[in-house]
Amino acid sequence: MTAGRASRAQPGEHRAEKAPNAELPDYYQTVAEDVIAFCGDQGGRVWIDLGTGPGGLGLALLEKASDGAMVLMDPNADALRRALDAARRHGVGSRVVAVIGSAESIPLPDESVDVVVSRGSFYFWRDRAQGLREIWRILRPGGRAMIGGGLGSAYPQWARQEFIRRRRESAKSPEEARKFAEARSPETFRRLAIEAGLPSFEVVGEGGLTADDPNTGIGIWLRFTKEAANDA
Ligand SMILES: C[S@@+](CC[C@H](N)C(=O)[O-])C[C@H]1O[C@@H](n2cnc3c(N)ncnc32)[C@H](O)[C@@H]1O
Repeated sequence: MTAGRASRAQPGEHRAEKAPNAELPDYYQTVAEDVIAFCGDQGGRVWIDLGTGPGGLGLALLEKASDGAMVLMDPNADALRRALDAARRHGVGSRVVAVIGSAESIPLPDESVDVVVSRGSFYFWRDRAQGLREIWRILRPGGRAMIGGGLGSAYPQWARQEFIRRRRESAKSPEEARKFAEARSPETFRRLAIEAGLPSFEVVGEGGLTADDPNTGIGIWLRFTKEAANDA
């Protein structure tokens, strides 16, 4: 991936011209803003960044949230080691726990977390519907989940266009591009949510490849709330 935590352009910053290979702004910041807009930022929460990789989204969330703890989960132990190192460097090491685990069998008790986020990982799960059922199981009543991928709604337009251009260039064949888009389509997300038996959910964004729709920069997200029993 080209973008990361190194570049600190402000969300929404507009730059008209940019060298073709210039580094792109940090999308974890803009995705974290969207997550907080949906999930809120009440104190004392337990979050989980599922398929965290090197921890970009989980750490951006911890930096924005006033307090609370983050479970960084991934099947890849090397990625988790990098995530932990990054957490310490960013001064939030005491607020994270790294856990080796996969979405299809999350090693956490029922109703144990307040917010589940997962960015750029859903497409790699072996059984995506089972992963969604697991997320539902570990969410506390009233808990929220935001699963999918993207750059964040306030990601600068120029960088979004450039990101999509690079992604198009990196597609190896039309068949690969078709599979990529299908895995990220709103129809696929809806089908999987229904297959998982989620009682209510919404799919926002338009998927991974087109740059024309203003909502495309949001990416594609499945969002849901596990309503408390007396809210149902
Ligand atoms: C493209 S990386 C995304 C990392 C990070 N969330 C980000 O946005 O930069 C995909 C991550 O999903 C993880 N992953 C793959 N299969 C998974 C599964 N079944 N459950 C949870 N995570 C998985 C991979 O190990 C990898 O770290």
